[in-house]
Amino acid sequence: MTILLTGAAGFIGFHVARALRARGVQVVGVDNLNDYYDTGLKEARLAQLAGPGFSFVRADVADRDAMFALVSDDVTHIVHLAAQAGVRFSLIDPYAYVTANVMGQVVMLEMARQCRRLEHFVYASSSSVYGLNRELPFRETDRVDQPSSLYAATKRAGELMSHAYAHLYRLPQTGLRFFTVYGPWGRPDMAYYAFARAIMAGTPIPVYDGGRPKRDFTYIDDIVAGVIGAMDRPPAAAEGPRLLNIGNHRSESVGRLVGLLEAALGRKAMIRDVPRPAADVAETWADVSAIAALTGYAPATPLEVGIPRFAAWFLAYHGDGGGRKERA
Ligand SMILES: NC(=O)c1ccc[n+]([C@@H]2O[C@H](COP(=O)([O-])OP(=O)(O)OC[C@H]3O[C@@H](n4cnc5c(N)ncnc54)[C@H](O)[C@@H]3O)[C@@H](O)[C@H]2O)c1
Repeated sequence: MTILLTGAAGFIGFHVARALRARGVQVVGVDNLNDYYDTGLKEARLAQLAGPGFSFVRADVADRDAMFALVSDDVTHIVHLAAQAGVRFSLIDPYAYVTANVMGQVVMLEMARQCRRLEHFVYASSSSVYGLNRELPFRETDRVDQPSSLYAATKRAGELMSHAYAHLYRLPQTGLRFFTVYGPWGRPDMAYYAFARAIMAGTPIPVYDGGRPKRDFTYIDDIVAGVIGAMDRPPAAAEGPRLLNIGNHRSESVGRLVGLLEAALGRKAMIRDVPRPAADVAETWADVSAIAALTGYAPATPLEVGIPRFAAWFLAYHGDGGGRKERA
């Protein structure tokens, strides 16, 4: 069993790779180590993964030649997590999203078709596909044709292309709609991480609409359990492609997140109230009954447990002042 895992130097990919390696399977990690955020953090994650059972290939998933060179009869599973993530940056560099998330998805699907012993192609989608939906919690059967950002549109495009490949080529696939994932070794561009840095630096944090927007915050260990549980259960050909929410099944305010960060870091935040941008949705909340029925998924980490774990890692990694030097 060899698992090809893209986005291995990224937040979720690193944690999934570590859990898979602990199972004793071979993991081939792929990542282009782009500089969307501190590459030093990506390299530090890879350094943690180095060792038996893990090999690394620096490559771009949108690069056909590089990805086709990795086609192998040993590959039984592909876990495709590489993407240009982040809602706000999609207003700044929309092309990066189309290259990584649309071209990258097609290249990965074409590559998957060539792996003759492939049992399952699992890929990351996002809760952002629910876009401007107002009915909560979000269910996999909800309409997903009203994205509020280009990021969301490219993630939905990936799901649709996967549907076509499942239909045409009977490629067993599962798309995972992650809901606001946080935890140690997290992503510096996300609010919880950027807030922690600003709190430690004593600089103001921009909080949208008085902290009222709500998110289904999902701890990384729960996400890893969901990814691996889903990976182990490929859909039967007759079932068609599968889409699953992975969330915490709780919707909590950003204001509460800030309060938990303050308590865990032992400092008060300087809050600057700003209006919520149009690309950001007001609330997310995952119905997780489908993945629970399939895998027994049961998120076990509430925000009040997960945030102190993140804060402890943050302080250890960055030092007390939050000031570890970053390389872009
Ligand atoms: N973290 C979340 O809250 C969240 C929520 C919803 C969906 N997702 C999705 O989950 C997946 C993993 O997200 P993450 O939070 O770990 O993000 P991340 O940015 O930490 O990880 C993504 C990794 O992919 C790599 N990458 C980007 N473009 C690439 C390319 N063209 N070729 C090869 N590698 C490339 C990056 O270098 C990075 O290491 C992504 O598909 C993301 O869209 C994440």
